[in-house]
Amino acid sequence: MERRLCHRDELPDHLARGLLREGRHDRVFAIRRGAEVIVWLNDCPHNHRPLEYQRDQFLSADGQHIVCYAHSAHFDLRTGHCFAGPCVGRYLVPVPARIDGAGNIWIPDQLPAPSALNQA
Ligand code: FES
Repeated sequence: MERRLCHRDELPDHLARGLLREGRHDRVFAIRRGAEVIVWLNDCPHNHRPLEYQRDQFLSADGQHIVCYAHSAHFDLRTGHCFAGPCVGRYLVPVPARIDGAGNIWIPDQLPAPSALNQA
């Protein structure tokens, strides 16, 4: 089963936005690059905590990669690979997303586990 996350037009182009608020943090964040939308679990593989320092702040100043502001881990935007910081070689966990013909973004009802790509 899927659930609707948001509409593509609700995502600012070349920026990130947190979604699925739970408590003080969002469970996922989405990055839009033109027609492309990438959704990630908001879970840093270093200490399994949310990445942002304030709402929707997931990217480096130049918008070219994802940053976890807790200890400055840097991740590739498209692969989620950590290339600098305390968890080099580990990965953010992608959330499979589908965009329908009307621009709605759909994700699975059940989010992937935080450890999905980072088994010891
Ligand atoms: S918790 Fe993300 S870099 Fe430490």
